[in-house]
Amino acid sequence: MTTQLTTNNFQGSPSGTEVGGVSPPSNFPDEATLSRLASEFFAALPNTGNQPNGLHLDVPNVSTPPHAPQPSEPLAALTGRAPNIAFEKSLNPEYPEHIPNYPDYPERRAIASAPVIGGANLPKPPFEPHFPQAIHHEPNVPHIEANVPSMQSVSPFYFLNDFSAPASSSSDFNAEQYATAQSFQLPQGAELRRLLNQQEPTHRRSDTSHLSQKPAQSQFYFLETPSIDPSIQTTPNKTSFRSNATQPLDIQAIRRDFPILQERVNGRPLVWFDNAATTQKPQAVIDRIAYFYQHENSNIHRAAHELAARATDAYEHARNVVARFIGAKSSKEIIFVRGTTEGINLIAKTWGEQNIAEGDEIIVSHLEHHANIVPWFQLSRKVGAKLRVIPVDDTGQIILEELPKLINERTKLLSITQVSNALGTVTPVAEVIQIAHAHGVKVLVDGAQSVSHMPTDVQAIDADFFVFSGHKVFGPTGIGAVYVKPEILEKMPVWEGGGNMIQDVSFEQVIYQPAPNKFEAGTGNIADAVGLGAALEYIERVGIHNIAAYEHALLEYGQNALSSVSGLRPIGTAKNKASVMSFVLNGYSTEQVGQALNQHGIAVRSGHHCAQPILRRFGVEQTVRPSLAFYNTTEEIDLLVSVLHQLSRNRRTR
Ligand code: ALA
Repeated sequence: MTTQLTTNNFQGSPSGTEVGGVSPPSNFPDEATLSRLASEFFAALPNTGNQPNGLHLDVPNVSTPPHAPQPSEPLAALTGRAPNIAFEKSLNPEYPEHIPNYPDYPERRAIASAPVIGGANLPKPPFEPHFPQAIHHEPNVPHIEANVPSMQSVSPFYFLNDFSAPASSSSDFNAEQYATAQSFQLPQGAELRRLLNQQEPTHRRSDTSHLSQKPAQSQFYFLETPSIDPSIQTTPNKTSFRSNATQPLDIQAIRRDFPILQERVNGRPLVWFDNAATTQKPQAVIDRIAYFYQHENSNIHRAAHELAARATDAYEHARNVVARFIGAKSSKEIIFVRGTTEGINLIAKTWGEQNIAEGDEIIVSHLEHHANIVPWFQLSRKVGAKLRVIPVDDTGQIILEELPKLINERTKLLSITQVSNALGTVTPVAEVIQIAHAHGVKVLVDGAQSVSHMPTDVQAIDADFFVFSGHKVFGPTGIGAVYVKPEILEKMPVWEGGGNMIQDVSFEQVIYQPAPNKFEAGTGNIADAVGLGAALEYIERVGIHNIAAYEHALLEYGQNALSSVSGLRPIGTAKNKASVMSFVLNGYSTEQVGQALNQHGIAVRSGHHCAQPILRRFGVEQTVRPSLAFYNTTEEIDLLVSVLHQLSRNRRTR
């Protein structure tokens, strides 16, 4: 039986609570004492509290740290972690020398400093090592049969059979705690709860009646099924977006799933507002990757041995999860790549080179990330095609009425982002695809910034290609996926050549594997693909509709709060936005603002965000870009805005 461990247990209760069967010694200091001693120690360190570039900020630390402070000096910060076993052992000689390294072992959680109880980690991870019989794959089988299973179906994979998709945990969370004296612009109490999609804090964990309540009709733009004109539908059997029911999230429990959110930066709790650059990883993903290397590591598809079967199962399971997560019909439509950039390059160099010739035209929007401009620019230069651009209005939304005027008989492809990484604009991709398809134009959707914020359904929007990166959706770096509509995929030529993608090779001819394998030459990023699958399963457990609803309220709160800062100009004010709150601040370079925020533990990106054309459209070269994820809180936004107010005041008085 697995012993569950709460964070409080680990931190040593004065009453001597058992920690996973190991009693803390009676002289173990309590949390308050530890905290006081640590604060005194770190306060004595040199350089604590220095401000950048002579900026003097006096901002209240609105977050109470849930754990003892750590030093601002990075090397000193390591001392809290590496010798953890030795430290525990010095306190308690019975503490084990070796901590068995599988995910649910309580001491391991403690050592990883991973408060993994709560949030979406409550259910048993699907890779719990119960070692049922592996299904062995024959070596050199050309294709792994992998229809997308329903979430309830019995998995063919050896470690998956006890997967269950729980409802998100009922909440002990009291929204009042967010409505602090430093809150900005929004009403307190019930109204704030409504905006943040939180219910009256009357229920407790044992009370699940609220879970069966019928959700109100969604008020959120991205939760609505896109209206598709049936007269221009080209694909039969469209699936509609899955249920848009939403439940409130227990954000504090979710935060405990992300160990890095316990970090301290410059002596302050980390506030991670750089989610558009990359997202943080839940313990479930970290554990899944570790488990792969501990129990499954092998090359895939190539051997008769047990670990090859486990690794192949794990990899192909991840492909199934990706397919399910984005609404593809089959995992055969999913190609693993390093990320969105490689995915777009793959399409440009395969389908693009096959179908786009001299005089043809490619349309992109003014919002695009460089990754959705440069490959098309290069292709255009190579074959003599022309690049055309959908303009945006002054809010940063594409001007849809201009699109038909850009399309002509030479237009072959339209490639567009679903969410702008620089402005946060949510583009109307379903309508764009309708218009493009009405003219026989194929559409690639760049989902890098959308998949973590809103439901994705490639069939519902009828995308021809859809591309995203794992690291922006709580998965590892170096892994991403490309979806290609099956009728297009079967005609697409291969790009890179090598092992893994072939059926037979001689000096006279090469026979390729069927898709998707023929697009995955060489040994891929197996472990991180598995980690990506775990990230998407984590999101499924939390519920992407719940995430979308919460983030929508959080973004409104953040934009309102930012508008109170004198001299702040928001860049990108479209009605439909997700996550991103780009701005410039009078009197400061974006780098200065970024550094000032960093002094308070707040991470934002300052710069051009690899999207220079759209920033120039707004007359700037750079912005400060806080970007939200579902583990962020209104308290963190309050802190951000407090620092900006202080900067703004300093500018006026200096
Ligand atoms: N594309 C990433 C960003 O927007 C790196 O920051």
